Amino acid sequence: MSEPLLRVEGLAKHFQGLRAVDEVTFEVQRGELVGLIGPNGAGKSTLFNCIAGAIPRTAGSVAFNGRRIAGLDPARIARLGIARTYQNLRIFPDITVFDNVSAGAIGRIGISLLGTLIPQLGRKRDEAIAEATLAALQRFDLLEYADQPAGNLAYGQKKHLEIARALSLQPTLLLLDEPAAGLNDTETAELATRLRALRDGGLTILLVEHDMPMVMRICDRIVVLDSGRKIAEGVPAAIRADAAVRAAYLGDDT
Ligand SMILES: Nc1ncnc2c1ncn2[C@@H]1O[C@H](COP(=O)(O)OP(=O)(O)OP(=O)(O)O)[C@@H](O)[C@H]1O
Ligand SMILES: [Mg+2]
Repeated sequence: MSEPLLRVEGLAKHFQGLRAVDEVTFEVQRGELVGLIGPNGAGKSTLFNCIAGAIPRTAGSVAFNGRRIAGLDPARIARLGIARTYQNLRIFPDITVFDNVSAGAIGRIGISLLGTLIPQLGRKRDEAIAEATLAALQRFDLLEYADQPAGNLAYGQKKHLEIARALSLQPTLLLLDEPAAGLNDTETAELATRLRALRDGGLTILLVEHDMPMVMRICDRIVVLDSGRKIAEGVPAAIRADAAVRAAYLGDDT
């Protein structure tokens, strides 16, 4: 098998005594859409935060494209090609939809001092940022709202904006933390189609999601966490039938 795009090995994150992520190992191959599921508090968001460099890990390693990234700062990890969305919307309501989304592209392409000193370089960068932003807006039907304050968008559109911002970074790996949360059935179905299309276009996606029908339908493989530990991994049909997974969800009273 070729080298995986993402390899998480023995990853651990402890908060005081709590093992929020407890020696988790898994891989994501290029082009895969992998689901990361588990009951509330299983450690999914914490795992994302460790991969993206938002919080320091306690132990273990993360390799992206064969390169160790654990310990690098989040901006650097983003530039290497990992984009993420947040479980709770992180939107700037008073600035435009365009500017919210272009923040992702700027993170990747950068606004360098050299660009401000050499106008030609600066223009090239501005064009690249605009191009990546417009493509991401179009992909999520947000183009017509580009000049409006993001705060004006409906909730479902704000969830789209989050993903569009991540996409404008032109990542090779997209980490999505509960993109369907709060969406109605129609919006969820639409989102599922879009994620599948992104995956079919070659993007690799790691998807944290509580909407089980959606996860089962669109994921190539699923990794299951419970109390910080990986308790199962496999194709959707195998996960659906897995006794440990069923027990973990039955024990979850939320
Ligand atoms: N900054 C923190 N300090 C202390 N404990 C934390 C911190 N962040 C998360 N935890 C704890 O770590 C555990 C895992 O939390 P995490 O948010 O990763 O779970 P999750 O799987 O994303 O849950 P959910 O499905 O509810 O979003 C929980 O017990 C949580 O309370
Ligand atoms: Mg979470």
